[in-house]
Amino acid sequence: TLKIDYSRPGPEIPKSMYGIFFEEINHSGDGALYAELIRNRGFEEHVFISGCEYKAGFVYAPQSPNYITNKLSNWRHPWDIEKLKYTAWKLNKNAGEASYAVVDENRLHPATPHSMRIDIEKTGKEGTVDLVNEGYWGVPVEKGEKYDLRFYVRKSEKYKGGVTARIVSSDDKILAEKKFQIEKEGWQEFTSVLKTSGTDSKASLQLCFDAPGTVWVDYVSLFPKKTFRNRENGLRRDVAQKLADLKPAFIRWPGGCIVEGATIENRVKWKETLGDPMTRRGEWDLWNYRTTMGFGYHEFLQFCEDIEAEAMFVANVGLSCRFRNGDYVDESQLPVYIQDICDAIDYAIGDGTTEWGAKRMKAGHSKPFPLKYVELGNENWGVRYTEIYTKFYNVLKPKYPQIEFISSIGFGDDETRLGEVDMIDPHWYVKSDFFWKNTHLFDNKERGKYKVYVGEYACNQEVGSGNMEAALSEAAFMTGMERNSDLVTMSSYAPLIENSNRRDWCTNMIWVNNEQVIGRSSYYVQQLFSQNRPDTNLKVLSVGEPVQGKVEVIAGYDYQKGETVIKVVNGESEKLDLIFELLATSIRAKGRIITLSAASGKDENSFEIPLLISPQEISYDKFAREFTYNFKPYSLTVLRIKTS
Ligand code: AHR
Repeated sequence: TLKIDYSRPGPEIPKSMYGIFFEEINHSGDGALYAELIRNRGFEEHVFISGCEYKAGFVYAPQSPNYITNKLSNWRHPWDIEKLKYTAWKLNKNAGEASYAVVDENRLHPATPHSMRIDIEKTGKEGTVDLVNEGYWGVPVEKGEKYDLRFYVRKSEKYKGGVTARIVSSDDKILAEKKFQIEKEGWQEFTSVLKTSGTDSKASLQLCFDAPGTVWVDYVSLFPKKTFRNRENGLRRDVAQKLADLKPAFIRWPGGCIVEGATIENRVKWKETLGDPMTRRGEWDLWNYRTTMGFGYHEFLQFCEDIEAEAMFVANVGLSCRFRNGDYVDESQLPVYIQDICDAIDYAIGDGTTEWGAKRMKAGHSKPFPLKYVELGNENWGVRYTEIYTKFYNVLKPKYPQIEFISSIGFGDDETRLGEVDMIDPHWYVKSDFFWKNTHLFDNKERGKYKVYVGEYACNQEVGSGNMEAALSEAAFMTGMERNSDLVTMSSYAPLIENSNRRDWCTNMIWVNNEQVIGRSSYYVQQLFSQNRPDTNLKVLSVGEPVQGKVEVIAGYDYQKGETVIKVVNGESEKLDLIFELLATSIRAKGRIITLSAASGKDENSFEIPLLISPQEISYDKFAREFTYNFKPYSLTVLRIKTS
C-alpha cells in the first residue's frame, strides 16, 4: 500500500521545472523550426568554419592564441566542401547552353560575399535557363496558400531579358509564377507573393532567365505567409505549435556545443544573428553544416514571448568546445566577452538608455523580452572554467541581479572549486539502466550551495533512435527530479528536434519532415510531466511489502485545481496492481487518468503511426480513500483526483 501523506507537504515544484533546449543540430532550425523554404539561400553553404584553414586533414585556427589544431575526423573534407558550393541548387536539364558557378565578385552584402553567376550562351528549348532550388529535401507548398518571395539579381550589360520565378511541382507542373523586368544596373531586389495552385511537399523554386548574357543571383528566400503567430522571418507553424504544446517554462538558445564553437572564432556570435536575414552571415556549425542563423537571438526572444516561456541565453565565455579544439582567449580578452553578455542582456531587457536596449526598440520591440537566465558557457569544465566563471559572475551579478547566472559544470570535482553560483547544469546521455538506478541521485545531494538545472539529458544508448524503454527510463529519472524540486528547479531534454533527413545525434525528441511533425514517446513523457506539474510534492509512504522492479511513484498537490496528482512509471513488462491510501479529508470518486503506454519497450512512434504511443485520457469514478489501480505494462500514468 502506498499512503499519500498530506500532513507534511514536500518541496514546492517551481513553474520553471520543465523547459526546452534548442540547438541548431540535425537541421532543427534550418529545415525544421525556421520557416524558410529555400536552402543555401545566400550561396554561403560551402564556407567552412570561418577564420580557419584546413591543411592535410587538420583544421587550423591561426587566430587562436594557442594555435591549436583539430583533426578533421568527423568533419567534412575540403574536397567535399567544393561540392557544397551548389548545395540545393542546379541548372535545369533543358538549360540550353549555360554554365554556373558560385563566385564572390560583386558582393550584395559584405557579410555574405557569395552569389551564383550564370553565363548564358543560348536559352533552352522552353526559351529559358532555369536556376532551381530543391529546398530542404523539397520545397513544401499547399494549394491556395501564399508565399513571400524575395530575391536579388544583377545583370551584365549584354543581358536584355527578364526573370520569372516559378514554384514547380515534382512532376513539372507550374504551381505559381511571376515575371519581373530587370531594369537597374547593380543588384535589384524583387519581392512578390506567390499563391500556389497545388500541393506538393517536394516542389522546387525556379528562377528562369530568358536571354543570353550574364546574371548573378543572391539571397533567394521563400516563406510561407502563415508563420507561427504570423511573425516575419518566422517559424513553421506546425513545428512551433508542437513546442508550444509542451507548455515549456523556458527556452534555452542557442545550445549546446555550438555556443562554444569548434574554435573560438566558430562560436555563436549573437550580434551577427540580428537584423535583415539577408545580412546574416550564418556559420558553419560544429554539427557539420552551415546554418543561416535565421532563427536568431531576436526571433528566439520573440518566440519565448509568444508562448509565454522565459528565455535562457547561453553565452560563450572565451572557451571553445573541448571535444574539438579547446582553444581559449587570453585573459586580457575576457572583458570583451563579458561586455558581449551585458549587451545581450541589454538587448533583451534593457531600456532605451542602453545601447543595445535601444537597438531592440529600433527593431520594433519596445517592451523588454522575458530573459531570465544566462548560462555562462556550455559544458566548459575544469580549473580554467571555474576561474573564468567567477570573474564573469562577479561583474555580471551585481549589474543584473534579476538574472540567474548558471554555471555549466555538473556534479563532480569542480563543485569544490566554485565560488558563488546560482545554479549548476549537469548533463546525462546514458543507458536506460543508469536512469532507473539513479532515481534517488538527488535525494542526498547537499542543499544550500546552488540550485540544479538538468540542462541536457536523454537515454540515448542501446535504444536505437529512441523507444519506449528510453522514454520510461527518462520518466523514472524525472520522478527523482520532481521529488527533489527544492534542489532541481529546472530541466530540459536534449536534443529537441531532428529533420528526418539529417540525424547528427542518435535520439531526438521531435521528428520533422516536409509533411509531418511527430513527437517520440519521450516527447509525451515531457508533455505529461509539464502539464501535470503539481505545486508541491506530497510524501508517498510505502507500507508492507515494497514495490519491486522498475517502478517509480511520486505524488503532489495542485492547489489551483484542488487535485492530488500521482505519477506512476511502470517499466516492467507485467501489469502492476497498486493500492493507494489517501490521507485526505475529502476525496471525490470522479477524476481523470492519463496513460502513456506501449505493447513493448522497443515500440516507438513513426511517420506511419505517429500516435502509436500517445497519452490516452479517461474519466474514472472509483477513486476513494483506499483504492486499487491496475497499471499497464510499459507505462507512465497520471492520476488526477479531487481531494481536500
Ligand atoms: O545535445 C547535443 C550535445 O550534447 C550538445 O550540443 C552538448 O552540449 C552536449 O554534449
